[in-house]
Amino acid sequence: MLVTGLDILSEARREGYGVGAFNTNNMEITQAILEAAEERRSPVILALSEGALKYGGRELTTLVREAARDATVPVAVHLDHGSSYTSVLKALRFGFTSVMIDKSGEDFETNVAETRRVVEAAHAVGASVEAELGRLAGVEEHVAVDEKDALLTNPREAQIFVERTGIDFLAVAVGTSHGPYKGKGRPFIDHERLKKIAELLGPEYPLVLHGASGVPQELIQRFRAAGGEIGDAHGIHPDDVKMAISEGVAKINTDTDLRLAFTARVREVLAADPKVFDPRKILGPAREEMRRVVAERMDLFGSSGRA
Ligand code: G3H
Ligand code: 13P
Ligand code: ZN
Repeated sequence: MLVTGLDILSEARREGYGVGAFNTNNMEITQAILEAAEERRSPVILALSEGALKYGGRELTTLVREAARDATVPVAVHLDHGSSYTSVLKALRFGFTSVMIDKSGEDFETNVAETRRVVEAAHAVGASVEAELGRLAGVEEHVAVDEKDALLTNPREAQIFVERTGIDFLAVAVGTSHGPYKGKGRPFIDHERLKKIAELLGPEYPLVLHGASGVPQELIQRFRAAGGEIGDAHGIHPDDVKMAISEGVAKINTDTDLRLAFTARVREVLAADPKVFDPRKILGPAREEMRRVVAERMDLFGSSGRA
């Protein structure tokens, strides 16, 4: 059933579990996410970036919306990293129930003003709004405090930002970054900062963790073994994800893990059978691999069995 982002996230925050926002770009990824959600009885957020909308067009939004409606678990359809008011309006017209406006690259006042405009439009049609404060970047543990402060979310600013914009959930910068290179070994997460932000926003307020993929080393090894090339890839440690949830994070964004699962499996299938040319025999196993990864994430976040 199609619900809003806030419907899903306010319950998650209240009950102390996290919900995955998984990026989709096509039918197989959408099916993998929803099959895992049905199997695990978990609420879920289907995230579409502007790149996804450009790639998949009207066919993708129709597919995603219909699949979300048909699901027997709560599903929100969410615009990931919306870059403009226009982009948000288009998503709302397509029937998205949740949108992100990302003006985190602008100065504070511009971010507030642009975000506020989106909140007015989205709330008028019953959709939820996420916005971001701070820069997503991997930081080393030993980096000086003022350097961290320049990049990461300032707790007091976060409180003012939420009050002035009226957003429903806030994406914070606490050391995570997008993609497979999040830092060496176990990438550093600023848990003290996260706790402080949550304390100022209150015990019911849902926070969002972008760049939260785990980058499983097993997938990296399989990707390499099947001929893929990737550098020193590391993701967010499962214990850091669990800790972040206990500290106030309710929405956990995951894209890279699905990309790795898809590509590793496609490479394996093609390498194992050079004669294969039926797309279903290539994409089917990749879909199954992504379903497995999503289900594992749902268990980690504690959302399994909540729907
Ligand atoms: O945060 C970004 C997501 O991983 C989506 O990436 O813009 O390449 O679709 P994309
Ligand atoms: P990952 O690159 O860690 O999967 O993060 C995805 C994300 O934050 C999408 O908004
Ligand atoms: Zn993101």
